[in-house]
Amino acid sequence: MWFTITDRAAHGIPLGILPAPVPKPFMSIQVLDEMVQGGFEEVLTLHDRKSGLRAFLAIHDTSAGPAFGGIRRFGYLDEDQALMDVLRLSKAMTHKCALVGLPAGGAKLVLIDSPDLKVREAYRFIGRRVEELAGRFYTGPDVGTGSAELAAVAEHTRYVTDPGVAGPGDLAGATADGVFAGMAATLRQLDGEEDWPRRKIVIQGLGGVGERLARRLVAVGATVVGADVDIERAERVGRELQIETVDPAREFGEPCDVFAPCAMGGIIHDVAIERLRARAVAGAANNVLARIGHGDQLHRKGILYAPDFAINSGALIRGALFHLNGERESTGEIESRISSAITDILGQAADENLPTARVALREAERRINMRRDSANKPPLQPT
Ligand code: NAI
Repeated sequence: MWFTITDRAAHGIPLGILPAPVPKPFMSIQVLDEMVQGGFEEVLTLHDRKSGLRAFLAIHDTSAGPAFGGIRRFGYLDEDQALMDVLRLSKAMTHKCALVGLPAGGAKLVLIDSPDLKVREAYRFIGRRVEELAGRFYTGPDVGTGSAELAAVAEHTRYVTDPGVAGPGDLAGATADGVFAGMAATLRQLDGEEDWPRRKIVIQGLGGVGERLARRLVAVGATVVGADVDIERAERVGRELQIETVDPAREFGEPCDVFAPCAMGGIIHDVAIERLRARAVAGAANNVLARIGHGDQLHRKGILYAPDFAINSGALIRGALFHLNGERESTGEIESRISSAITDILGQAADENLPTARVALREAERRINMRRDSANKPPLQPT
């Protein structure tokens, strides 16, 4: 989904004839303060007049190895929104790397989309800048950046995920495999066993990850119910996998063992929690909780939550280890890393009767601080 660009420059009005900008009602982000508080290493502001590119690159942490993060191209409302996103997303990548034990850190590049952007040129420009960083930052796909865009980046740098046969392979498949393993760990935490043939799993979003996850679940005998706002897609997947599909938004009320969000972030909020009839939430979508407090609400309601940034790192594991070791990681390796991260977090949370989302953050920061300590860097301030 794309926001309408309200930025006047994005409508092709030359900046020179604009009246002085109206002051914003709120303070803009104090980027240096944010960097100090969040422990960021570097935030680069990128501009290319030829392509119209306006972008931010945040490198959060390289204590344990190079920083990994995709390129998000999105119609941000303004620079503040883009900057907030790049800071949040790059830090989350460091958390992911630490939780699954990758010798790598987090970064992100966000590109402010606009109707005037010369897309191919912009991605070529990014490729040149990534190459200049000489392996400190590796990049790859994200929202708005697919195979065609990555191919343009790859014209100028080797530090990018190749979407073709020379690359690490099926990334959405790696994510689905990781979610499957994390879901299994969640069920073991609930009942001591997976017992797939007795399970009902509701999947929200039958896209790249959701469809693959549904296939794996069907293969082990679970009952799967799917929903997608793209009705044709839902019908096709339902027909091919012989699974029931429900109208979008009705999936929240389906009684099930696991609700698997595989569509978009922010979908676990007050209303959704009220309607959820699942015993656990475990899926691929990033930033599933609208706010961390919604993780506390799930905990109070007795719904076990497998934290998103621990369970959805399959693609990151496959991409990072391909670049670092030059090998295509096996499904088993991906699953075992995610399974052990989820088992550890859910186990700690149960022992201390704490919300799993808070334990995951605490555990990620503990591990990051050990890495920072070894690299003689000051610890992160607690989130
Ligand atoms: P996708 O774009 O291929 O599929 C998303 C699907 O969700 C689409 O079919 C779309 O129609 C559907 N959808 C959107 N809003 C919906 C709603 N409100 N209700 C029901 N269906 C809805 O995306 P992909 O690659 O499958 O990723 C799914 C989620 O997992 C995203 O949030 C993504 O950020 C996250 N993720 C994906 C990774 C990957 O390797 N592809 C890695 C880590 C996270």
